[in-house]
Amino acid sequence: MSYPFQIASFDEYEKAYKASIEQPEKFWADVADTFSWRKRWDEVLEWNFREPKVEWFKGGKLNITENCLDRHLESSADTPAIIWEPNDPTQKSRTLTYRELHFKVVQFANVLRNNGISKGDRVCIYMGMVPELAIAVLACARIGAIHSVVFGGFSAQSIADRLQDASANYIITCDGAYRGNKEIPLKSVIDDALVQCEFVEKVIVLNRTRTPVSMIRGRDVWWDEEVQKVDSTGNPDLPAVEMDAEDPLFILYTSGSTGKPKGVVHTVAGYMVWTTYTFVNVFQYKRGEIHFCTADIGWITGHSYIIYGPLCAGATSLMFEGIPTWPDAGRFWDIIDKHTVNILYTAPTAIRSLMGFGLDPLKGKKLDSLRVLGTVGEPINEEAWHWYNENIGKSRCPIVDTWWQTETAGCLISNLAGITPSKPGWATLPLPGVIPKIVDEKGDEVVVAEDGFIKGNLCLTAPWPGILRTTYGDHERCRTNYFAAYPNLYFTGDGCLKDSNGFYRITGRVDDVLNVSGHRIGTAEVENAINMHTGVVESAVVGYPHDIKGQGIYGFVIYNGLEKDMELIRKDITLTVTRIIGPIAKPDKIQFVSGLPKTRSGKIMRRILRKIAEGETKNLGDTSTLLDPGIVEEIKNGRV
Ligand code: PRX
Repeated sequence: MSYPFQIASFDEYEKAYKASIEQPEKFWADVADTFSWRKRWDEVLEWNFREPKVEWFKGGKLNITENCLDRHLESSADTPAIIWEPNDPTQKSRTLTYRELHFKVVQFANVLRNNGISKGDRVCIYMGMVPELAIAVLACARIGAIHSVVFGGFSAQSIADRLQDASANYIITCDGAYRGNKEIPLKSVIDDALVQCEFVEKVIVLNRTRTPVSMIRGRDVWWDEEVQKVDSTGNPDLPAVEMDAEDPLFILYTSGSTGKPKGVVHTVAGYMVWTTYTFVNVFQYKRGEIHFCTADIGWITGHSYIIYGPLCAGATSLMFEGIPTWPDAGRFWDIIDKHTVNILYTAPTAIRSLMGFGLDPLKGKKLDSLRVLGTVGEPINEEAWHWYNENIGKSRCPIVDTWWQTETAGCLISNLAGITPSKPGWATLPLPGVIPKIVDEKGDEVVVAEDGFIKGNLCLTAPWPGILRTTYGDHERCRTNYFAAYPNLYFTGDGCLKDSNGFYRITGRVDDVLNVSGHRIGTAEVENAINMHTGVVESAVVGYPHDIKGQGIYGFVIYNGLEKDMELIRKDITLTVTRIIGPIAKPDKIQFVSGLPKTRSGKIMRRILRKIAEGETKNLGDTSTLLDPGIVEEIKNGRV
């Protein structure tokens, strides 16, 4: 049985798109009617981008976990909901059917309640990729607690910042996590973070690696022991808490152009409708298929396309604990054959890294279960697209290039697998409900093509159900970040091209945000971390093209400390960034300079630094407004 809102042909796509623009309220009401509500909404949509205010399905009452779990119990209780593949391939994988997942979520929701957590409380989840992470997320949603998942690679300082920003009093973590041949001591990182966060009341710790951990009496409790307490009461039932359509579901922190990550807030109903609608349509999911999204649940892709979208659709979602290159670079392909994966959704950086191992790791791998391939997170270069198409998809699987953001909840511009055309490197067409507008610096719509393309900054003119509602604790920040650059438009921060077919190609960020291995990192965040190092006077960070990561991090640093061994300082600075943010923000290159190119008003001309980092030494553009044009020469000559 297909889904009532599944688009089955190009003609249907065109019709759906038109209907979604002409009568958005009717269009989305029809989609939302296919979900399970305790009470239907009073009003489909109310919005303005001035404040901004966006409310979908207002007055509706529901619980997203009843849509992810309960409503599948009648017809598909024995369908696998989650297949979990452990880090170590010699260990057993685990399957949780919808019945089992429902049981475990309800059970853990009881644990949360017994530990004093209730609707509206913020719960930070800092775990490895184990099924209990999905269970923790869903159990929060079940009782209406707002989850804030923090990627397991972030440092104690980053966790402390996030705990403070969200006033999160509760934490769910693991003793440790496995990633390839590494063991990451998560609980000990949490302990370090909590030195600054005495307001945290409870830490629930799952035993995964048996790493010795210190447990603080009264604050820290073991997951298993708490579960046993629930079981011993003999009645682990817990009705899902009724939520308003616009109640917050979760906070997810993401980087912007300022130094401090923002807590993007998504609400229950709109997020549910958008992730499910896009999952079913973009991947053209067919019931019974196995969907493998390789992202970590610490990022939005994992939230939307490992947990909520697939589970709301009653799909089988494969969750992988490890990394693509361990024990060898054939791991993804082994997983695909072992579990007969039908849909593979990964990032261009992973494809490029695997390409680097040549075709040997593919020997003996069948990959014949694959039907659809997907990419997300950054622009995909044509070479990687063709490699993916030929060697993984055997030229028979459509590739969906899905463009979206943490703030958008799910895909906005993407081809629909096998239904709408693909074009290597192009995200192609907007989904129903998505109205892009390309503007120039001044905010005027660009209508004239240059070299065959319309070029400019990508904005969206109207809300789709999954648009962010606010940034946690600071609505003004949401307005200035996304809705102030251009009046009445949501500004994505991305530059783009549009061709004569109306296809879009996202060319990358136009703000001070880097995209390193598909992860968003603000240059200001990295600079702040570098500046924490004693002896560093000032720094400026820019991105440069990197063969595997897409973008690498290049730091220009003014140092006048006492230590003179520059190699040692370089290592120390790198360590400082790792400690302050996490290993994902480590600079790839550090160049020591005696000054930075600044205008007379003191603004760093990043454009010049970007060109130097890219290896461009001739056409640096106009440098006449610089306070000290001579510094450019020095920086050029000292390039690393
Ligand atoms: O620059 C775009 C890039 O990733 C940014 C969003 O990052 P994040 O919020 O971390 O979410 C990543 C997963 C959705 C965007 O502003 N980006 C994402 N997908 C694509 C992309 N750039 C080009 N093509 C894509 N398919």
